[in-house]
Amino acid sequence: MVLRISYFCSCLLLVVSCSSSGDKVIPEPPAPPEVVGENLFIMHCAVCHGEDGKLGASGAKDLSISNLSDAATLKIIKEGKNAMPPMKALLGNNKNISLVLEHIKKLRH
Ligand code: HEC
Repeated sequence: MVLRISYFCSCLLLVVSCSSSGDKVIPEPPAPPEVVGENLFIMHCAVCHGEDGKLGASGAKDLSISNLSDAATLKIIKEGKNAMPPMKALLGNNKNISLVLEHIKKLRH
């Protein structure tokens, strides 16, 4: 009988300790996409294009006056063109590439 009661108690304790530890850790919210796109651009593209897209280092085109279609822009980002190296590997995946595309379209007038 005594054994049974202590078994019951330890079970109860386990349940209580498990349920109370549930919602204490609040995970960091993920960065919103605008920030990711801008950061990727600053990290990988601004060295030639400048943060506002107008720098033109190494013969880079002014992105604020670019009028290329999304498809043509994506192709240049992925495969490069003349002095611009392909950026696909650096950007890692298609999601990052489209986030950068969204960002550079905001640099246009
Ligand atoms: C090493 C310097 C360099 C880096 C880094 C670079 N670019 Fe470029 N980019 C260039 C050059 C040079 C051109 C002009 C290519 C040509 O047409 O001869 C260009 C052209 C472009 C164009 C075409 C614009 C137009 O209207 O013709 C786009 C879009 C572009 N770059 C986007 C990007 C993005 C996005 C990144 C980062 C992921 C990036 N570039 C990184 C040098 C660079």
